[in-house]
Amino acid sequence: MKVGVFDSGAGGLSVVKSLLEHKLFDEIIYYGDTARVPYGTKDKNTIIRYSLEALEFFNNFDIDLLITACNTVSAHALTEMREASGYEIVGVIEPGIRALENKLPTKDAPILITGTRATIASGRYQRELMERGYHNLTAIQTGLFVPLVEEGIFDGPVLDEVMEYYFKAISAPSAIILGCTHFPLISDAMRDYFEKSPLMIHSGDAIVEHLADQCGITGSDGENNLKIFASDNVEGLRRTAKGWLGDV
Ligand code: DGL
Repeated sequence: MKVGVFDSGAGGLSVVKSLLEHKLFDEIIYYGDTARVPYGTKDKNTIIRYSLEALEFFNNFDIDLLITACNTVSAHALTEMREASGYEIVGVIEPGIRALENKLPTKDAPILITGTRATIASGRYQRELMERGYHNLTAIQTGLFVPLVEEGIFDGPVLDEVMEYYFKAISAPSAIILGCTHFPLISDAMRDYFEKSPLMIHSGDAIVEHLADQCGITGSDGENNLKIFASDNVEGLRRTAKGWLGDV
């Protein structure tokens, strides 16, 4: 199978990593809109417009399925993208919610939702969780983590300071939804910030479970042929991919 993975920039490589580890696909076509990242600070109409333009890129490839690794796109543009495309499109929000439900069925457990301004403002995670009975929710925009991760800062004093800024009023969440492509790279630091290690919900792992349960995609002998494209500085994105993906 050939899958497309779309993200606003480099962050979606965190989802690609999970796909590669499970060898689900023969070919992965990755497109990062690096010329226009971040999407998380844009308004809904702009996010939809950029996402529909990205579909035009994927028209050059005969993909079987598209994964929108970007939480911001998944929160705002999935309906419009699905209407405009001829293939199945899977976002990351529903898989993340399912993963949480499977691992933490206790409905009154305190859950911390993190994400970009646009993702949190969309209220998508909050609504879907409340529909499933979760009611002890705190949602915060943690956009400063995005440039830190882009700079390769995954731990240390600067990150500690930013975590203190965002999390100082939050006590003991049972789970944290990493509602942004970049946050899995600082998942360990976020978990260690809190005394009782919360359950971390990672879009990449959640997508793998979702593809198996909802789409019947379980193969483990895919060829893992990854092709990376970008709207700006593709060489830079390929270098980032080497660093983030390691030997997978
Ligand atoms: N990919 C975005 C997300 O997951 C983060 C970066 C951005 O703001 O574009 O929400």
